[in-house]
Amino acid sequence: MKIAASILAADFTRLGQQIGECEAGGADWIHIDVMDGRFVPNISMGPLIVEAARRATRLPLDVHLMIVEPERYLADFARAGADGLTVQVEACPHLHRTLQQIKELGKRAGLALNPGTPAVAVSEVLDLTDLLLVMTVNPGFGGQKFLPHPLSKIRQLSAWVTEHGQATEIEVDGGIDPETAPQVTAAGATVLVTGTSVFRAGVPIAEAIARLRRSVAAA
Ligand code: DX5
Ligand code: ZN
Repeated sequence: MKIAASILAADFTRLGQQIGECEAGGADWIHIDVMDGRFVPNISMGPLIVEAARRATRLPLDVHLMIVEPERYLADFARAGADGLTVQVEACPHLHRTLQQIKELGKRAGLALNPGTPAVAVSEVLDLTDLLLVMTVNPGFGGQKFLPHPLSKIRQLSAWVTEHGQATEIEVDGGIDPETAPQVTAAGATVLVTGTSVFRAGVPIAEAIARLRRSVAAA
């Protein structure tokens, strides 16, 4: 199980230091939430932050694009230092082409599905997909309550990936904490995005990450 620490919940006056604490504390990836105020109601960060994060760590940068027309910005984020680019399927009328673009940039190609989007939305492009991101909140804000209904979608996608004999990661994002982490890993999740439960747990980042790992190991 991998942990992708979501810097949306970080203290931006100390971003480099906090990313360093994630790396030292055993996080596997740094998750960067890009929001445009159109696909989602909130505005967050862009390539500049990706570039700064790139200089702060060697960990892979997992960039989650919650934006309309993501194909217009893929090259910018790749250049800024992203290792993985994940687009929202709802924002991509030409999903197949967009995935090909990400592959051509040499990046890990991810597809995110909102809580209201069924698994079948990605069934035609599984071969081109390196990562499936199942949203367990409606995207736009950190600190929201975990929605349990996408658990069955995690199971479905995990079954398809196994059936295809693929190494596609199944990532889950939204409301992941020591209580919900074991539920999503039991359903087949391989990467957990965690913002609040890593940066705002009231304990040092390393301890917060250890708590998440223990919760899954104990289940
Ligand atoms: C939500 C973002 C998430 C967010 C998760 O729109 O995609 O990555 O940072 O935050 P928590 O872990 O606080 O739910
Ligand atoms: Zn995210």
